[in-house]
Amino acid sequence: MSAAPHSAVATRREGDVLVVSIDHPPVNALGVDVRRGLLAAIGQADADAAVRAVLIVGRGKAFIAGADIREFGKPPMPPPLHEVCNRIEASVKTVVAAIHGPALGGGLEIALAAHYRLALPAATLGLPEVNLGLLPGAGGTQRAPRLMGAKAAARLMLDGKPLSARAALAAGLVDRVAEGEDPVAAGLAYAGELLDSHAPARRISDIVIADRAAALAELDALQAETARKSRGLFSPLKIIECVRAAVELPFDQGLATERARFLECLDSPQRAGLVHAFFAERETAKIPEARAAQPRAVDRIAVIGGGTMGAGIAVAALDAGLPVTMIERDAESVARGRANVEKVYDGLIAKGRMTPEAKAAILARYAGSTSYEDAAGADLVIEAVFEDMAVKQAVFRELDRVCKQGAVLATNTSYLDIDAIAAVTSRPQDVIGLHFFSPANIMKLLEIVVPARTGADVVATAFALARRLKKIPVRAGVCDGFIGNRILAVYRQAADYMMEDGASPYEIDEAVRAFGYPMGPFQVADLAGGDIGWAARKRKAATRDPDARYVEIADRICERGWFGQKTGRGYYLYPEGARIGQPDPEVLAIVDAERARKGIAPRKFGADEIMRRYMAAMINEGANVVDEGIALRPLDVDVTFLAGYGFPRFRGGPMKYADMVGLDRILDDIRLFAKEDARFWKPSPLLERLVAQGRNFDNLNKAP
Ligand code: 3HC
Ligand code: NAI
Repeated sequence: MSAAPHSAVATRREGDVLVVSIDHPPVNALGVDVRRGLLAAIGQADADAAVRAVLIVGRGKAFIAGADIREFGKPPMPPPLHEVCNRIEASVKTVVAAIHGPALGGGLEIALAAHYRLALPAATLGLPEVNLGLLPGAGGTQRAPRLMGAKAAARLMLDGKPLSARAALAAGLVDRVAEGEDPVAAGLAYAGELLDSHAPARRISDIVIADRAAALAELDALQAETARKSRGLFSPLKIIECVRAAVELPFDQGLATERARFLECLDSPQRAGLVHAFFAERETAKIPEARAAQPRAVDRIAVIGGGTMGAGIAVAALDAGLPVTMIERDAESVARGRANVEKVYDGLIAKGRMTPEAKAAILARYAGSTSYEDAAGADLVIEAVFEDMAVKQAVFRELDRVCKQGAVLATNTSYLDIDAIAAVTSRPQDVIGLHFFSPANIMKLLEIVVPARTGADVVATAFALARRLKKIPVRAGVCDGFIGNRILAVYRQAADYMMEDGASPYEIDEAVRAFGYPMGPFQVADLAGGDIGWAARKRKAATRDPDARYVEIADRICERGWFGQKTGRGYYLYPEGARIGQPDPEVLAIVDAERARKGIAPRKFGADEIMRRYMAAMINEGANVVDEGIALRPLDVDVTFLAGYGFPRFRGGPMKYADMVGLDRILDDIRLFAKEDARFWKPSPLLERLVAQGRNFDNLNKAP
């Protein structure tokens, strides 16, 4: 933030137009300097008889990205944004906003306070406050409905997705779309036209919504739909309340409603969680290697293995415009790999989201082969063959033999020791883990797993690739399961213990869903397929600690061939291919039999206790992962779970959640549970240290 007041907003005269230029990098967020600068600029225009119009533009790539999110939760600094908007609208001069880039949230609200709006083709216009647990709080809930209709405006705010310039024109949000990239030139031309034609000062607050009854009926329907879909989110229903006020009340009273509801949202823990998620997702890319080294150029990719993951990874790379060569074991597998890739695009064509021509153009960049020699020219190779150390090492020996010097050699392993994979090559500095999540072309998370000997430029290359593939990268160290799967294994175990001790899988799933997850752990197991976990358990049986508690219920279910959705039953029944399962009395009988075999008298678990145990296990292992340096910061754990494991975004991630609950309370729970099983419930040393020091996880989130 600049020290000199008003420097974030520059004014200059162009004839009888005062050009007000917002210059507050990187995205012209409406920090206190910008708000003050805008107020001063409007005052200057109104006081100057020679000025007939005001043109508001943004410098750099954005028009205005909204309120300054970093100011939320801090003491407010005057003037508030809604007053700035009201002052702009009240100007006696003709105010024009010329939008050439993102006009989001408060940014669009500034534009709505102007009397005329012009968009250039690259403009994006939206009210995405809902993504931060908020609602538009600077008149947006009152002005947008007056301009575009109550239902369309409410949808814009509830979806949180921006509109293109053309879509905004069609929706009535802007008055005109002009060609070009320079908002000053286009804006001055438009302002000149308006002045020449003596266009009246048009204030949106003067508009009265015409057919109130119809608008209210539409809002009723939207409210019912939103109550169903918003899954415990606080701000969506408040948005509808504000839009209703826009229909029913005079402008000033509507604004007062908006103000009150906005402040409630601002105070809510959901806002804190969602804002944390917003910044955390941007922080994970800030890693020491990205500062220390330049990424290598990546123009060609090879993928080894065309199964579930290889095909998804190939699609992700193709979608980013990269040429992809896929290497498989034999001609039949090459054909299957290609079919797996084509299936994704055929799905899009069937939904009308892609043309056959576009598919053909993409597949022109794709080739399958059985020969490793065809990976020789790749700048980056991603291995996604079976999860077996010997198979992977054999693949890496081949890659070491054929790949050009300087190629990055990556593995998509879920659990295996990547140092041991790197060790079979003559170039361990080039080896790295790129752990995609299924479906790899859709899931946002990419764990970038860094073995001991990997070069900084290889790490930087992986992060640059993630950006290109539109993934959210998280840096992880090597251990069994890295960040995500390692922590998952622990809280899954906590869930299994609760199941054996008395909670049914259905009660656990329900509690986890009520917490905000889309699915519970047993539903996820049924979706993923029980056979995969079963194979892993059998593999690890020999090395399992014989004294540790081991729940065999999953094995009993798998022994019956019940692997989940794909076999029609798992923890749930899926009659005739149903996607939503029904509770299965036979599974409950298996659970009972296992309890009886172990002499466990089942007890009741309430949803609250289920979640306390589930979260304590997750947080404790999250703390271990941070303490051991597997994750750089607590926020890296948060982003892993938000982007890869369905953790409810409004809670900010497990570590943010722990901070909000209070680390002392989490530690108390762990110590209490340790009285039953001290081996499993071992407090993380980091958690103990933080509690002793009166600190929290967020204190560790400073960039490393
Ligand atoms: N306030 C403060 N900082 C912001 C910001 C904002 N509104 N929007 C973006 N930034 C910061 C980012 O944190 C990032 O900082 P960093 O470089 O230190 O990590 C930097 O600007 C660049 O952001 P991105 O990496 O996201 O850049 P992109 O070019 O990929 O995207 C964008 C640009 C589309 C503008 C995207 O940043 C975005 O969607 N921003 C948030 C928009 C938003 O939610 N606005 C509503 C705010 S709430 C509001 O306005 C309330 C009002 O109604 C009262
Ligand atoms: P898959 O069984 O669907 O596919 C593996 C493919 O590798 C098969 O098509 C097989 O023909 C091919 N293959 C085997 N050996 C080969 C060789 N020597 N050369 C070329 N191709 C060979 O397995 P999936 O699920 O795609 O998993 C692949 C890797 O991705 C594993 O390491 C797995 O742990 C990891 N992974 C899996 C996830 C999942 O959800 N399925 C998620 C994240 C990682």
